[in-house]
Amino acid sequence: MTQPTRRVLVLGGTGWLGRAIVDDLLADGADVTCLARGLSGDVPEGARLIRADRLLPGALDQVSGTWDDVIELAHAPELVVPALDALADRAAHWTLVSTVSVYARNDEPGADESALLVEPSDPTEYADAKVLAERTTRSRVGSRLLVARPGLIAGPGDPSDRFGYWPARFDRGGPVLVPTTAGRSVQVIDVADLAAWLVRAGRDRLVGTVNAVGPAVSTAEFFEAVRAVTDHDDELVAVEDDVLLAHDVRYWAGPRSLPLWIPVSDAGFAQRSTAAFVGAGGRTRPLRDTVVRVLEDERARGTDRGRRAGLTPAEERAVLVAVR
Ligand SMILES: NC(=O)c1ccc[n+]([C@@H]2O[C@H](COP(=O)([O-])OP(=O)(O)OC[C@H]3O[C@@H](n4cnc5c(N)ncnc54)[C@H](OP(=O)(O)O)[C@@H]3O)[C@@H](O)[C@H]2O)c1
Repeated sequence: MTQPTRRVLVLGGTGWLGRAIVDDLLADGADVTCLARGLSGDVPEGARLIRADRLLPGALDQVSGTWDDVIELAHAPELVVPALDALADRAAHWTLVSTVSVYARNDEPGADESALLVEPSDPTEYADAKVLAERTTRSRVGSRLLVARPGLIAGPGDPSDRFGYWPARFDRGGPVLVPTTAGRSVQVIDVADLAAWLVRAGRDRLVGTVNAVGPAVSTAEFFEAVRAVTDHDDELVAVEDDVLLAHDVRYWAGPRSLPLWIPVSDAGFAQRSTAAFVGAGGRTRPLRDTVVRVLEDERARGTDRGRRAGLTPAEERAVLVAVR
């Protein structure tokens, strides 16, 4: 007997990860409906888009029927709560895309999903809102819920421009300003691996809470991998944190940052346990493959383009001159 087509509702589906999930759902034969304003983009061909602003009353009225899986990508309480009110009782399985930023401490390398969470005090803060979304969704969906907590997502088209800074920078050649690497690591998941796992997890009605992360690698290994892929053969100029900070170079993300750089005291942020993910069938490609995919995308978009994260070539040159 043939199985009925799986009906999946994606709350989102127009953003970077959302589109990757929808692509995989369609490839998996699901009947996919997305609900979003359409401001972040369109949905992949083959999916239905209900255009609605969830901040407005009645936004979910157009969603009818029951669902094999609902995948929630948003986190603001004013988006999450009305969706649960309207749909929690009509979903056989619910997937909430959360984040490893929900954890209160980043100084416990290897910590698993039972680690202490941030105590939410400001729902406009990302981590607080994600914790609230987890709690509210769990209270409404209970044993039908999968909470996926991705670490840094990497891959072609990343709108945050973080991971891609390094392949783009090494590919431009010349001496590269880097943080010191001792005691530091990098832990990412390729957007394609994350999407594939979320789709499979929904199909298998997997429940519980899972860090969706790849293996941690030392920052030195990460730079070596990027150097190898880009054939970079010039100097790496490693500079201590206090010197970088004195030159207004910022941690982790955004303008004037060295992306993925975090204080050594927070090294546990990029060393989360992968055991639950692996146990739940999560598979990740070798880091090198992600670097190759991202480099191709960075070259297509221009490795010297303006970006949301990292130092501009002029900013990096100024710091290099000052520290030498
Ligand atoms: N990037 C990372 O490294 C990272 C790491 C950990 C976790 N995450 C999580 O991964 C997910 C990424 O999702 P994403 O890339 O698909 O994009 P996103 O921008 O984070 O997703 C938000 C989705 O919600 C929709 N939306 C926002 N406001 C809305 C409104 N008022 N009414 C209706 N829809 C609304 C957006 O569509 P429209 O704008 O078209 O309405 C979009 O499709 C997020 O949950 C993020 O927290 C990301």
